[in-house]
Amino acid sequence: MTEQRPVTDAQAKPVKTLPDAQTVTSVTHWTDKLFSFRVTRPASMRFRSGEFVMIGLMGEPDPKTGKQKPLLRAYSIASPSWDDELEFYSIKVQDGPLTSRLQHIEEGDEIILRPKPVGTLVHDALLPGKRLWLFATGTGIAPFASLLRDPQTYEDYDEIVLTHTCREVGELAYGAELIKSIPEDELLVELLGADNLKKLRYYPTTTREESPKMGRITDLMRSGQVFEDLGVPQLSPETDRAMVCGNLAFNLEIKELLEGYGLEEGANSDPKHYVVEKAFLD
Ligand code: A2P
Repeated sequence: MTEQRPVTDAQAKPVKTLPDAQTVTSVTHWTDKLFSFRVTRPASMRFRSGEFVMIGLMGEPDPKTGKQKPLLRAYSIASPSWDDELEFYSIKVQDGPLTSRLQHIEEGDEIILRPKPVGTLVHDALLPGKRLWLFATGTGIAPFASLLRDPQTYEDYDEIVLTHTCREVGELAYGAELIKSIPEDELLVELLGADNLKKLRYYPTTTREESPKMGRITDLMRSGQVFEDLGVPQLSPETDRAMVCGNLAFNLEIKELLEGYGLEEGANSDPKHYVVEKAFLD
């Protein structure tokens, strides 16, 4: 790693001499608390859709030594494995060490990206099944934005259900736009197959603002409402596979529900019926 000269706050932007620097190619602000951005992809970097990497910026200089260390956090890659660029989806935490600064990046800026993808939300960690459930809250939708643009998702399953629970309607925008954009994108339609796109079901819900479907997905599963709405049976280990990505309380609650249906947690080395990963929070 290159040691940086002491710099003032105003200059404390990532500098071009950084190892693992990637250039921001676009930024979209979805709400005052959510944004997504795309960066260049290291030529040699391979990953499986659904994995995460460590990304960040140079930290503030140490007050005593003036030295800077990278400030990195785990971020799911939201773009599919075939994409030339890498996409990320993030919250903005006003006093968060990283996102208080990351939210200000612009096209042409550089971020640090360690090209070592890992994660459990991958097809390899699941046994073959008929229906794939992708359960997300908040920014937990990011790995699913990757998987929903990967042909393997549609090849492996007859039906794919994306559920996304957020507090407010505005927080659903990134996912809603993704779902809308897939059938409108000629390249994606060709890649995924027009018929395959009929397999995709989208079930957004909100908990604190009025929307067509209100309530936590966990409650809607317990009451059976989600199954009734989608016209599918309750999950079973014979047919259903699930990937979960959200806040900690949600992950724990849904895990219990899935276990109650008889599904067992899988891993890369031991594929089973469902997998879980915590969504990034600053
Ligand atoms: P709620 O508004 O009822 O807390 P957050 O923004 O806090 O990460 O939450 C994102 C979404 O996840 C919110 O809609 C929130 O609902 C929901 N949520 C939080 N905890 C749970 C849980 N244990 N089970 C299901 N959904 C949850």
